[in-house]
Amino acid sequence: MPFTANRQFKAAPRLLSRARGMYYYTAEGQPVLDGTAGLWCVNAGHGRPEIVDAVAHTLAELDYAPPFQMGHPLAFAAAEKLKGILPSGFEQIFFVNSGSEAVETALKIARAYHVARGESERVWLIGRERGYHGVNFGGLSVGGMPNNKAAFGPLLGEVDHLRHTHDLDRNAFSRGQPEHGAELADDLLRIVGERGGDRIAAVIVEPMAGSTGVLPPPKGYLERLRAICSEHGILLIFDEVITGFGRLGAPFAAQRFGVTPDLITMAKGLTNGAIPMGAVAVQAPVHDALMNGPEAAIELLHGYTYSAHPAACAALIATLDIYAREKLFERARALEPYWQEAIHSLRQAPGVVDVRDIGLVGAVELAPLPGSPGARGYDVLCRGLADGLLVRVTGDAVALSPPLIVSEEEIDALVEKLRHAIAASARPSATPPDAKVI
Ligand SMILES: Cc1ncc(COP(=O)(O)O)c(C=O)c1O
Repeated sequence: MPFTANRQFKAAPRLLSRARGMYYYTAEGQPVLDGTAGLWCVNAGHGRPEIVDAVAHTLAELDYAPPFQMGHPLAFAAAEKLKGILPSGFEQIFFVNSGSEAVETALKIARAYHVARGESERVWLIGRERGYHGVNFGGLSVGGMPNNKAAFGPLLGEVDHLRHTHDLDRNAFSRGQPEHGAELADDLLRIVGERGGDRIAAVIVEPMAGSTGVLPPPKGYLERLRAICSEHGILLIFDEVITGFGRLGAPFAAQRFGVTPDLITMAKGLTNGAIPMGAVAVQAPVHDALMNGPEAAIELLHGYTYSAHPAACAALIATLDIYAREKLFERARALEPYWQEAIHSLRQAPGVVDVRDIGLVGAVELAPLPGSPGARGYDVLCRGLADGLLVRVTGDAVALSPPLIVSEEEIDALVEKLRHAIAASARPSATPPDAKVI
C-alpha cells in the first residue's frame, strides 16, 4: 500500500466504502467528515453526479484514443476550458495522469527549452528543502523530504535545494502569509554563485508547501524568487498540485499571490479526484522555443499512453463547470476568515506549537511526544477517525483542507472533533482507540 505501514494496517484496517458531499462512510455505515478533501483533491465534494454522467457518457462514446500523432476533440476542449482559469500568458497544456508525472514533464520541458535555445549547459534543477514533488526520480530529486529519498539513491546529480521557510521562532501562529522570511529567497543567489546562474535550468517550488505540513510563503518571498529567476534566465515552476483549483481562494496560487511562474504543474482538483489526471501549463515563450525544428520532427519526445484520456478530459470539463457554476473558488475566499478564526482557536489545546492557515487550508503542529516523533500525529489520526473525522498527518503536523463546499457548521464540527483528538493524544497514559471501529 502507498505510504502506509502495511503490517500495522493489516492488523487494524481503515476502510472507506462510500462518499457523498462532505462525508465518507465506512463499511459499517459510520459517517466520517472529510477534513482533507480525500487527499487534497475532492474540492467540489464527493459523488458529484455531473462528473459521473460525463465520464459514463464519454466512455460509452470513446473509450480510448491514442495520444501519439493522434488526437480527439475532448482533449482540445479540455485544454481550452483549463486555459480559461489559468493566469494570462499560459497558452499551452500538456496532459498527464498524476502530480508526479506533471513534475517529471515540467522538469523535462524546462531542460528541453534551454536545449532548443542553444543553452544546453543549463541542466541544474533547484528544489527546496521540505518540498514534495511526487515520487518519481526527478520529483524525488528536487523534493526536499530526506526520508522519502533514503532508500532510493543515487538520484539526479545536478540538483540543489533552497532553504525551507519553516520558522516557528519568528512566524508561529501566523494568520495567512507569515511576516518574516522574504530574504530566504536570496538563498537562490547563493546557489547561483556556487553553480553559475547560466547553468541552472529551473527552480521548482510549491507556492505553498503542502505535504510537509502547510507552509504559506512569507510575504514577499515568491516575488523575490521570481525576480532572481528572471534576472538569470532561470525558469520558475510552481508545483500547484495542491494549491490549484481554489484551495487558496483563487484558481491558482499564482493568482492569489500575484506572482506568475513560467510553468505550472497541477493534478488532484483538476478532475475533483474522480479520474486520475495531471497537467503542465506553459507560458507561450516556453512552448514557442520548442517549435523550432523541421515541421515533420516531433518537438517533445515525451508522453504517456493515457495522456488526455477521454474519461479524464470529460471529468475535467464537468469539474471546472461545477467550480464556475457554484463559484467555489470565491466561496473558499469568502470562508477564509471564518476558517482562520476556527482553526486558530486550537492554539489553546495542549501541546500545540503552531497553527497556520491560508485560503481553505491549515495545519496544527504538535510538540512531538518525547523520543517518538510522529507518534502523536498518528494518534490524532486514529482518534479523529474513531470520532468520525478524517485529517491528514505529516509527522506531528495535522493538515486540514476540507472540500470547498464545507459549511460553517461543518467547520465547527471539524474543529471540535480535532480539539478532542488533540487533547486525548496529549495524555501519555491513554491508549489509542482501536482503529478497527472505523
Ligand atoms: C505539490 C505536489 N506535487 C506532486 C505531487 C504528486 O502527485 P501524485 O501523488 O498525484 O503523483 C503531490 C502530491 O501530493 C504534491 O502535493
